Amino acid sequence: MNLIKSLLSGELPARRLLVCTLLVSAAMIPALRADNTNPVPRLTIQADQVTAHVSPTLYGLMTEEINYSYEGGLYGELVRNRSFRADKSLPKFWDTVGGAGLSLDSSTPLNAALPVSLKLDATQASAAAPAGLANSGYWGIPVRPGTVYHASFQAKAAGGFTGPLTVALVSANGNTTFARAQVNNLTGEWQKFEVVLQTGNLPAATKDNRLVISTTVPGTLWLQQVSLFPPTYANRANGNRPDIMQLLADMNPKFLRLPGGNYLEGNTIPTRFNWKTTIGTVDQRPGHLDDAWGYWSTDGFGLMEYLHWCEDLHMEPLLAVYAGYSLGQHFVPPGPDLAPYVQDDLDEIEYVIGDTNTTWGAQRAQDGHPAPFPLHYIEVGNEDGFDHSGTYDGRFAQIYDAIKAKYPQLQVIATAKVQSRTPDLLDEHYYRSQEEMEAHAHDYDKYPRSAKTKIFVGEWATRVGSPTPNMAGALGDAAWMTGMERNSDIVLLESYAPLFVNVSDLHKTRAEGGSMQWASDLIGYDALTSYGSPSYYAQQMFSTHHGDTVLAASAQAIPTYTWQPTVRRRKNDTTPPPAAPPAQQVPCLFYDATRDSGTGTIFVKLVNRQVTAQPVQLVISGVPAVKAEGNLVLLQGDSPADTNSLEQPQKIVPKTSIVRDFGPDMTYVCPPCSISILELQTK
Ligand code: AHR
Repeated sequence: MNLIKSLLSGELPARRLLVCTLLVSAAMIPALRADNTNPVPRLTIQADQVTAHVSPTLYGLMTEEINYSYEGGLYGELVRNRSFRADKSLPKFWDTVGGAGLSLDSSTPLNAALPVSLKLDATQASAAAPAGLANSGYWGIPVRPGTVYHASFQAKAAGGFTGPLTVALVSANGNTTFARAQVNNLTGEWQKFEVVLQTGNLPAATKDNRLVISTTVPGTLWLQQVSLFPPTYANRANGNRPDIMQLLADMNPKFLRLPGGNYLEGNTIPTRFNWKTTIGTVDQRPGHLDDAWGYWSTDGFGLMEYLHWCEDLHMEPLLAVYAGYSLGQHFVPPGPDLAPYVQDDLDEIEYVIGDTNTTWGAQRAQDGHPAPFPLHYIEVGNEDGFDHSGTYDGRFAQIYDAIKAKYPQLQVIATAKVQSRTPDLLDEHYYRSQEEMEAHAHDYDKYPRSAKTKIFVGEWATRVGSPTPNMAGALGDAAWMTGMERNSDIVLLESYAPLFVNVSDLHKTRAEGGSMQWASDLIGYDALTSYGSPSYYAQQMFSTHHGDTVLAASAQAIPTYTWQPTVRRRKNDTTPPPAAPPAQQVPCLFYDATRDSGTGTIFVKLVNRQVTAQPVQLVISGVPAVKAEGNLVLLQGDSPADTNSLEQPQKIVPKTSIVRDFGPDMTYVCPPCSISILELQTK
């Protein structure tokens, strides 16, 4: 780093310039263009002064069914509307093949949970004109070379029709059949049929394909639960997409806040996430309208699938339980009316952690998982500050008391401030601009250390860039994360939101059936591939590079910029606008320092929001040595608007390089628009 300092001051001879460019990462070269007229900021780190312990569970994930997160996203199922309940009158997302007639039939239900089936009138079928139905999945069905797919469905037939049915993966234009199988022996009773579809050598993976079920024999039949699964992560049955799971695994998350968000509450009480109808065999799950985000969920991704997801990624569930309030201002008053919901919450906890000799622990075992799952945190509701009835205090108290009485070991999280109980944690949500994030990056420095209620920042994001945030978003996020990490004795848990977006159909509105309901999301995908936004990589860097103690750090001469905050107003607010708040000076550079007490490694994080390089003098005291050799992990965009996309998934990714010029007093030049983590070895 002293080499860089010498370069900036013009002291370095040409021979050492070459050495320097070989030793440091290419991303550091813009430092040579730094404006050297302002005083160099100084960051002092006192490594023998620990100000806080980093919560071991600080970095987690938040999730819900939004933006086609599960169905059309993480959940492996490739057939859209497999249970024909997405629309009351039409077999939505299904197409007729040949001259077949398709209709919804409530007189031939599979069971009470799925009281409608698809009636396929193939009476005109012939060898020359096969008749049937086809599904194009969630904006395509991915077909990859040399891959095994499992197709299944329930079927019954009329009038002695026995088949055969052909099940095939076919290109959308009908020109290519990638794999096919036959089903025989249909009867007048419902039966489940399963076939394997294996693709061969193909030039490439494609997504403009359909699952087609057809017959050349005239007949009438009924179908339910028409399903197609590709290989899944860890080969779980009813499991998840491997590419998206791998992106999550790379973040090393410690918990998963589930199942929402607004999805937990629904717009109405009947459309809440009613966990009891999301467990057991998928054929017995009725599904429900996710009216918070405007589309049908089969609930194939139910409570047990959330728990499997946690298990597969070695993270803990952070279980949000329904608290008697739904988004359309529907609420259950505390007292006897709320009691059945409280019991549902206790049952849900029992399903997750109860012994197998309890009712719901036994149900969990019957559902294939006798061992209890780890669980430490229960969240009561979601954003109950929006409940105008003022009942949250009473509802929270009733649920809190019931949980603490039965499970005193559990930490209970409130979603709005309450008076009558002291929650273990309060869930705070922040969706902000880059400037707001930066202006608030030091807020938790001022939080009273003696406060009994700790903080869970359960939803937050810098909302710049769509469908996924750009580099400006990542910079705002990183600034904010330095504040959370530095104050991790207070902020015990954090999770960005929303996590996922299907980017296949961005031009349609939610009402028109577009694939995105929330305009800035961490991870994007279509049917075939996925990518992490710059914000994803910022999260990943923070989550995987930190110590267990926070070190005292202070800075002088940090450059600032002037920011004029605006007042947020509701759309229909007709009152005179309040006076603009005063302009603020906001730092351009953010930092924190943590140390791993086992290895002695110090992680210095530096976030430079400027479009110019920024030299910083780093002075580290209180350790026997700062070794010359260490690592630099760097995320950098060409500009604030620079971003990743399906087409350029790896444009902005962290790069790790070895640096051989660290020391206890050095100058590091933060590249423009960058997040740097310096890993300093002290032993
Ligand atoms: O993350 C999107 C939504 O924002 C969540 O569902 C809700 O909790 C918040 O208002």
